[in-house]
Formats: sequence, C-alpha cells, structure tokens
Amino acid sequence: PVYQVKSFKYPGWHVTGYEEAKKILLDTRFQSRIPLPSATKKYGHLKDIQNNMLLFKNQLDHRRIRGIVGKAFTPKKIEEYRPFMIETVNDLIHQAETERKMDIISGFAFPLASLIIAKILGVPATERYQFREWSARLVQTIDFTRTRRVLESGNEWTAKLLAFFKRLIKERQSRPQNDFISLLVKEEQQESKLTEEELLATCILLVIAGHETTVNLISNSILALSNHPGQFIMLKEKPELIETAVEEFLRYESPTQMTARIASEDLQINGATIKKGEHVYIFLGAANRDSNKFDRPHVLDITRNPNPHLAFGHGVHFCLGALLARIEAQIAISGLLQRIPDFKIAVDDLQWRKLVGFRSLKELPIT
Ligand code: HEM
Repeated sequence: PVYQVKSFKYPGWHVTGYEEAKKILLDTRFQSRIPLPSATKKYGHLKDIQNNMLLFKNQLDHRRIRGIVGKAFTPKKIEEYRPFMIETVNDLIHQAETERKMDIISGFAFPLASLIIAKILGVPATERYQFREWSARLVQTIDFTRTRRVLESGNEWTAKLLAFFKRLIKERQSRPQNDFISLLVKEEQQESKLTEEELLATCILLVIAGHETTVNLISNSILALSNHPGQFIMLKEKPELIETAVEEFLRYESPTQMTARIASEDLQINGATIKKGEHVYIFLGAANRDSNKFDRPHVLDITRNPNPHLAFGHGVHFCLGALLARIEAQIAISGLLQRIPDFKIAVDDLQWRKLVGFRSLKELPIT
C-alpha cells in the first residue's frame, strides 16, 4: 500500500492502499504542491497561474480562497443550473439522433461540460463557442509528459484565456450579473478578498477541472455500461439507480487516477518514514479497488451502497465541483439511455490517452 520508488519518472512514495491514501489526504502536513516548480520564464503564464491556484495552496491561503470560491458551489447554486443541464443534454442528443452517430467525447461530454462551465462563469452566450475552442486546446495540453511542445502550447492557450477573463472581469466590475465572476468581483471588495491573480487563476482552474474530469466520467461510464450488458439492462429497467450507478462509475474507472503531496516534515506512514521534501503520489484509482475496503473491488455493481470511494479526493482539498459533476453525469447518462437505448460502441480498438493522472479515452464513437 505504501512503497518507495526511486527509478520511476516520479521518484517518491507511491500510495495505493485505501486507508493509507485517506490518512495522507487528511493530514495537512502532507502539503499540496505546484507541479511545475522548475518552469522557466518561458512558461511564465502557466507558472503564475499555478502559483495562485486553490488546488496548490495550503493552510491559511487555501482556507481563505476556498471560503470565497465555495460560495459559488453550494447545493442551492448548483440546483439552479439543473434546467440548463437538461436542456443542453437534450439538444446534444437531438443532434446525434439526426446524424445517427456521435463521438461521446467530442460530440457530447466535452460540449456539455464546456457549455455548463461557461454558463457558471458567466461567459456570454455569443462567446461560448470561442471559449470552448480555447478550453479544448488548453485541456489537451494537460499531459504529465511536460515536453517543451506541451508546455509551450499550454502557455499559449493559458495566455488567450487570461486575456479573455481579464476583459470579462472588467465588464462585471462595472455591470455585475448573477454569475461566478460577478460574485468573485463583489468578494474582491471584502476584507478577506481574492487578489486579481487569484481570481484569474480560479477561472483557469475551473476551466481545467470542469472539463477534463467530467468528460472522462461520462465517457468512462458509457464504456463501462457497454462492457457490462447485465448492468446496462438493469439501469435501463431501473432508471432510479442512476445515483448509485454514477458513484460506482467514479469508483470503478476513476477519472482522476492520481494526485500528489509533498511532506513538510519527516512523517511516518505504515512504519515507513517519509522525509521532509519527499513527494507522495496517491493513486486514487488503485485505492478505489482496494480489496481491504471494497467487496469484490473489480466487479462493476451499480447498486453498490455505501460506496465511500476517493474519486473526488478527501480532506481539505475535496473536490469543490463534486456535486456539479455528479448531477451533470446523472443527467447525461440517463438522457442518453432514455433517448438512444440501443447504442453501440462503433469501433473495436479504443485508445486511452497516455496519462498517469487521468483515465481518459481519446474518442468513443457510438452508433
Ligand atoms: C479538486 C476530482 C469535477 C473543481 C479535486 C480533487 C479531485 C477532483 C480528486 C482533489 C485533488 C487533490 O486533493 O489534490 C474531480 C473529478 C471530477 C471533478 C473526478 C469529475 C468527475 C470538478 C468540476 C469542478 C471541479 C466540475 C468545477 C467546475 C475542483 C476544484 C478543486 C478540485 C476547484 C480544488 C479544491 C481545493 O483545492 O480545495 N477534484 N473533480 N472539479 N476540483 Fe474536482
């Protein structure tokens, strides 16, 4: 469950056990860390943004920013988006019905996630397609290989989105509306405010976090159902199982497979001493298949309940968008099953993107 790896691309401690992963995520002496510490000035936009992201902040700064950003993700706020989610899912399925085929990723999950995050942020309807294009480009650069080409491209699309958000923030400062950016701009005037850099970094974080993982959840769920015909039929016959089904998809094929921490002092876990400054890689996907925690962990069971998976992390950095992602996936999968109940995967050789941190298909065409 906890072992040291020296020769791998990510030297440090690898944690695959459920209880051990949970313990580390709860212990704030294992700190969140910036994944691009050695980036040169060349990738300045990326680096500045990462320095100011909630996900990579610790202690007081983390508490302050999360307290403010969290106001936009309350259950009441998320519920307000439900009608928009249903309408968007229906529109996208309608297009697929007309064309009689669809790539679940580029034709359904990505546009859905993108339109929803644009709506939440307050991107004007006329600019949502441009926003979607830039977001798609930025999200494609999320790649743990971090080659020069990937970093340059990430830097370029971050710069474009930054300019876009700077303009939007200015507009909302003079004419606030009922959206996330207006809410944060209002908070800027309070005592425990966000700096402008933090505000921008939050917008970019939501673009990345709101796309990649949700797209993976929806596409991995559709694939899992198609690979398990018994579960597929059960969900069609009992649509009320959608909530436990989505929890099981999150556990079984976790969209975020890995996250990382750095030890802020010498720390003991399972008898091992992790020294100050050493990296710890927490494999959430492995923890979610730990047989010490889950009965028959490699079996997909859409009725599994309780299902205390770690797909959204645990502790102070627990995913802020968890409720949004859950509702989005429930509406998307139920809509698809209702309207195209006999869909089939259109190719035999599906390909996974070569990523360590995410479980992500390149495409998922259905007919
Ligand atoms: C944090 C997973 C969707 C926003 C996290 C973390 C995980 C995660 C594992 C914790 C990372 C860590 O502890 O190092 C997922 C999955 C999603 C999803 C599996 C979809 C299936 C979303 C969405 C949003 C979002 C839709 C927002 C629109 C965030 C934010 C954080 C976060 C802001 C940082 C929280 C903090 O540091 O306090 N997510 N996420 N996520 N997620 Fe998500």
